[in-house]
Amino acid sequence: MALLKRADWYDIARSTNWSPTYVTEDELFPEEQSGALGLPLESWDGYDEPYKVTYREYVRTQREKDAGVYAVKAALQRANFLDTAEPGWISILKLHYGAFAILEAMASGAESRMARFGKAGGMRNMATFGSLDENRHGQIQLYFPHEHVQRSRQFDWAAKSMHTNEWAVVAARHLFDDIMSARDAVGVAVMLTFAFETGFSNLQFLGLAADAAKAGDMVFSNLASSIQTDEARHAQIGGPVVKILIENGHQDNAQRLVDIAIWRAWTLFATVTGPSMDYYTPLERRQQSFKEFMLEWVFGQFERTLVDIGLDRPWYWDIMLDDLDTRHHGMHAGIWTFHQSVWWDVPPGVSPAEREWLEDKYPGWEETWGAHFWEPIIERFVTDGPVETVLPSMIPLCNMSQVPVTGTPGWTPGKTGRPLKDYPLEHKGRTYHFGSEVDRWIFQQDPERYQDHLSIADRMVAGMIQPPTLDGLLAYFDLRQGEQGGDALKHSWVEAYRQARTEAA
Ligand SMILES: [Fe+2]
Ligand SMILES: [Fe+2]
Repeated sequence: MALLKRADWYDIARSTNWSPTYVTEDELFPEEQSGALGLPLESWDGYDEPYKVTYREYVRTQREKDAGVYAVKAALQRANFLDTAEPGWISILKLHYGAFAILEAMASGAESRMARFGKAGGMRNMATFGSLDENRHGQIQLYFPHEHVQRSRQFDWAAKSMHTNEWAVVAARHLFDDIMSARDAVGVAVMLTFAFETGFSNLQFLGLAADAAKAGDMVFSNLASSIQTDEARHAQIGGPVVKILIENGHQDNAQRLVDIAIWRAWTLFATVTGPSMDYYTPLERRQQSFKEFMLEWVFGQFERTLVDIGLDRPWYWDIMLDDLDTRHHGMHAGIWTFHQSVWWDVPPGVSPAEREWLEDKYPGWEETWGAHFWEPIIERFVTDGPVETVLPSMIPLCNMSQVPVTGTPGWTPGKTGRPLKDYPLEHKGRTYHFGSEVDRWIFQQDPERYQDHLSIADRMVAGMIQPPTLDGLLAYFDLRQGEQGGDALKHSWVEAYRQARTEAA
């Protein structure tokens, strides 16, 4: 049978809107699922997705991608790369799989919402592929770490994490419920695909693929590239949605959704990607610092995307720049200090050579993080041997980002970073705590959406974590023996300091 050329049929087929007659348009596209802000079907006729693909082409390409990645995995299976991999890289793998495998599978549902309730035909078409993409990302990122479970139960957190109340998982769920699971089709398009995927995760996977190749992990490098190429396509669902909102007088709505999503994505990145890039990646393999990466790609490239499309950069741009010198250093310090509370072993990343690198990339790091946070710990470790670093009390957690409130230790005006400060809010008789004015602003955009959630600190106070001790907390996190993180170098890094002190004495 002769096939029509794609150009001869694609434009008719990709936009298959019709006028409903058996039901009303509102019944077919209920506002709570579509989020179309009352814009009728005709307003969506101009939706023009920049990336066009047919189902036939999609299936062929995806089949080839899967075949390629699984072939590389099979070919290298016996090489047992992880036997000789650097501890920092293994930590990045465990962190990555546990944080993202199930979330990727959940993203399939969000894409499906756009595939059913998006009012533009082209949007539904793209989102159908997006839904299949995310299903594949979920499956492949559950399958690949599984063979490593025999090596460490921490790899099992790829499957387990989202079924627990571990603190970083609670933070991730709070974020992705907000921009993905509990948003309408327009909300998902703008917040997940436009802000989060275009601005952040597409680049994250590009970077991960390159880092993996440098670390010698060809399996993960291929996996990351295969995911990234899907991401680059379905991330383009949101841009044309933003354009239609702007054309129809809803610029403020679009801007608000983008502003919320970018900040929330930033706090996740500062918790996960920041420590990975600046503290876990072996020194000789680091190309860019987290700050350089953020400045080039998110603050530079994505800012241009925003402006090109007709939006402003978020109102908190300068606050985010200050946070760039603060948040991920604080997250790393906190996570390393309480390494039992995560499912990966945490590399300290503060050997003398690494500290020189940090000072070079973050001038003033030594005066603040070095002198006020790490030096006292190193001093104690050298004198008394490695001792427990968990704080005996619950630290304040942000009621939006769900991660600890952070500031630069030893900060004084004029220094980079920002002071440790709580941004409280009274709302209906409850005091909420936030790590920044932006987190508080997000809450104020829609208090009913967020008001009933309890942070881990709130749960502790409410008596939901029993017994209210470290062991009780770790049990609440469902982190069992063999799953709780340790110091990734088993404190061997302290030796260099001990020798230096001995020689100096
Ligand atoms: Fe994905
Ligand atoms: Fe995606």
